[in-house]
Amino acid sequence: MPCTQKIEDLKWKPKGVILSGSPYSVYDADAPHVDPAVYSLGVPILGICYGLQEMAWSMQGKVAQCDHREYGFAQVEISKVKGENSSVDALFEGLGEEMQVWMSHGDQLSEIPPNFHVIGRTSNAPFAAIAHDSKPFYGIQFHPEVTHSPRGKEIIARFVLNICGCKHNWTMEEFIGKEIARIREICGSKGRVIGAVSGGVDSTVAAKLMHEAIGDRFHAIMVDNGVLRMNEARQVHHMLNKDLGVKLTVVDASELFLSRLEGIEDPEQKRRIIGNTFINVFEAEAAKIEAAAAEEEKKGAEAKGKIEWLLQGTLYPDVIESISFKGPSATIKTHHNVGGLLKDMKLKLIEPLRELFKDEVRVLGRLLSIPAPLVQRHPFPGPGLAIRILGPVTREQVKILQHADHIYIEEIRNAGLYNQISQAFAVLLPVKAVGVMGDKRTYEQVIALRAVQSEDFMTADWFVFPPDVLRRISSRITNEVAGINRVTYDITSKPPSTVEWL
Ligand code: XMP
Repeated sequence: MPCTQKIEDLKWKPKGVILSGSPYSVYDADAPHVDPAVYSLGVPILGICYGLQEMAWSMQGKVAQCDHREYGFAQVEISKVKGENSSVDALFEGLGEEMQVWMSHGDQLSEIPPNFHVIGRTSNAPFAAIAHDSKPFYGIQFHPEVTHSPRGKEIIARFVLNICGCKHNWTMEEFIGKEIARIREICGSKGRVIGAVSGGVDSTVAAKLMHEAIGDRFHAIMVDNGVLRMNEARQVHHMLNKDLGVKLTVVDASELFLSRLEGIEDPEQKRRIIGNTFINVFEAEAAKIEAAAAEEEKKGAEAKGKIEWLLQGTLYPDVIESISFKGPSATIKTHHNVGGLLKDMKLKLIEPLRELFKDEVRVLGRLLSIPAPLVQRHPFPGPGLAIRILGPVTREQVKILQHADHIYIEEIRNAGLYNQISQAFAVLLPVKAVGVMGDKRTYEQVIALRAVQSEDFMTADWFVFPPDVLRRISSRITNEVAGINRVTYDITSKPPSTVEWL
């Protein structure tokens, strides 16, 4: 829920509250503040990063800017006070005396509020973790929710299970059964569903789940938008239709997309053009499918029912990044499969993966017997190569990038590294550099390679390649891809960077 949720408007009483992080400082004029009534709910509260600062600041603690913004690993020393001090026992008990955590903040506590005490410190943050003396209120400066805090899940589990008293009653097997039943119930015995697939894990898993629930009443459409990876449309067709038995139509709309994208440089404009064109193509195709069914019916085939629902493979991170207390304008990027897309369509949305993270979608895929190479596929963004061409999109630039990206992924597979990397891709930079080929001076473009390891893509670390693999990739790209004379490797984590360059 947005942090600005008014407690009196809540229709249910929570068992606990977690106040999450935020890029704001509590002193910013437009900073979001929690309804103070949250502290009188009488339930445990865990403030994380900004959540800690917000809680401490509301209770007369002091927050100050750090000398250096802190991003990265830190070692938390857990306070040794035990026994009487039950809060240490509850949140950190059993975690040892030290743990590695991930920090990402510009502000931190400079004074803890009255009636709080320190339960953890780092060399940079003397108040890295605090707890109230008598109430179940905790604040931690680090991020337990990211994979780079290896014991973070244990901390969250302690808070949710032990401190708030919630039950662990959610399993993926149960989720599948419930979701299939839910889909069958909302679609009824005749309702038909249409959905876009891209070949990515999310849409493939969503399509398979739909197929399990309602069989051929689900019809998938893949739109070739001209900015897919090399040979992508063909491969996806084979995999979904032949391997998984999902009913699928592939529409080649590459010319339309590329003509609308021609010369466009602004990333959000690229996303909007692709999102809007996608709607046009998808709607036209849906209408054709509907018309074909009506035609068959006229000829005596059994009535198929109307297409009433639209399947979307929306995931929880898309939901989080799109729900902002300030409205969609404050989102980090306009992830095009949420909100704006298809809002004018008369179809109702069905989003079976809306509450799952990527790693959970993979588990779901395996349980649905989707072949491993498919489940392990690196994610590919909806706006495709358009957001990996940093300058204006042209047919020529798309070709260059497709070729370089193809070589990169092929060499990663040849080296047996594909499954160790969460996402790898090439980016085409809009700059030219000088090179030499034969005895001629060249002046050509630069390719940047990106490879990251991440579980949920909310944070990511760059992948450490064996040098000989990078050497081979660089040599093949500069030799085989016309227009490229230099290859660089991106060594930034998320944050402060994002996975994509745009
Ligand atoms: P960022 O760049 O936000 O990427 O760190 C996190 C994950 O999201 C993917 N991504 C997108 N996916 N439409 C999409 O469907 C988009 O506009 C978009 N931008 C980023 C990115 O590939 C990574 O997996």
